[in-house]
Amino acid sequence: MTQHSTQGDHAASPATQLVELARRFDTPIRTANLPMSRASTVVMDSIAEALRVGPAAMAGELHASTYATAGTPTTFALMDAIAAMEGGPGYRAALMPSGLAAITTALLAWLKPGDHMLVTDSVYGPTRVFCDGMLKDLGIAITYFDPLIGLPGALDPAQRIEHLIQPNTKMLYLESPGSYTFELQDVRSLCAAARKAGVLTMIDTAWSSPLLARPFDWGVDIVTMPLTKYWSGHSDVLMGAAVVREELWPKLWGAVRQLGMCVGGDDAFLILRGMRTLDVRLERHQRNALQVAQWLQTRDEVAAVLYPALPDAPQHALWKQEFQGACGLFGIELKAASPAQLAALCDGRRHFGIGYSWGGYESLIMPARLDSLRKVRPWRGGPLVRLHIGLEDPQDLIADLQAGFAAMRAVA
Ligand SMILES: Cc1ncc(COP(=O)(O)O)c(C=O)c1O
Repeated sequence: MTQHSTQGDHAASPATQLVELARRFDTPIRTANLPMSRASTVVMDSIAEALRVGPAAMAGELHASTYATAGTPTTFALMDAIAAMEGGPGYRAALMPSGLAAITTALLAWLKPGDHMLVTDSVYGPTRVFCDGMLKDLGIAITYFDPLIGLPGALDPAQRIEHLIQPNTKMLYLESPGSYTFELQDVRSLCAAARKAGVLTMIDTAWSSPLLARPFDWGVDIVTMPLTKYWSGHSDVLMGAAVVREELWPKLWGAVRQLGMCVGGDDAFLILRGMRTLDVRLERHQRNALQVAQWLQTRDEVAAVLYPALPDAPQHALWKQEFQGACGLFGIELKAASPAQLAALCDGRRHFGIGYSWGGYESLIMPARLDSLRKVRPWRGGPLVRLHIGLEDPQDLIADLQAGFAAMRAVA
């Protein structure tokens, strides 16, 4: 089958025509959006081409593919866009089917039995489960460290990351702000110390996206992000990416290919669509979140609002220095609330859904339990609730939370 035509081929039988017609459509019409490739099979013009492209795809050469697991025009377009936004020329991005898969794939690319990894105690819960589960089973030792190490407020002001680096330390894993408690880390200093010791650094940038922070400028080696969140923006697709400079690409791509990590064209297309409005959405998320956060600060029930963008937040100065803005995700610490009162605050809200994810257009509320998620810096404060502030009118959200507090108080 060498010809694909939209014209009937009367030499072929109807069964053959049904298979072969309309497989290509050469036209000068240009649509605003890239056509979407939904594919498993990639067809080549000759055996010579297959022999040439096969090794190139395995080696991760730009846009080389003999099978859609390596890439299609849609996934390559998204990979290029993410690499350009996150790093620029000389950077490459790989796609994985979720943000968590991007993290686990990148860790498996570099860690081997006998290695040691330093992990922030504020790490995203499922990443911690992977570290304590599969990585430990593979013989990789993990040391969790105080997220505030080296900063005012650290548990031990004399402690330095250098003191925790061992001869077999391969990776330093960061998250800034951290999950649930939103403390910022001194990423530049941590990366400088790691680089001096020959340790790679990796960061999960779920909260910030490339519009709000530039982790490669901080000295990070590997950046992962759940595209599921703001890149998508519509709560209808799961995907993750890992970005590295060229020199680290073969290792990352090797893991991606060996583990069979890939994404479908429809999902990649949805991320490309979401990306177009990322800038305007983030601006609105931040504006709405600040308004709701400042209102929450006035409430008697609230002990603290955990949002680095607030002027009185503990690491606000660091946030101003290192971030270009904030997203719509933050936490509140309540002074006190029984499980029944927490449920009353969250249940039956008119505008806040109860949901674990975030980064979509909609507002969400969810109590957070850190009992099994912190080892070095156990949470000693009051009950925590995580809020994602969406694109609704913030006055409606405030009224909804006001009703939630009233419901909470009504519970004995
Ligand atoms: C901080 C953080 N990192 C990574 C992820 C994982 O993303 P995904 O849900 O796409 O696996 C999440 C998801 O909630 C997250 O909050």
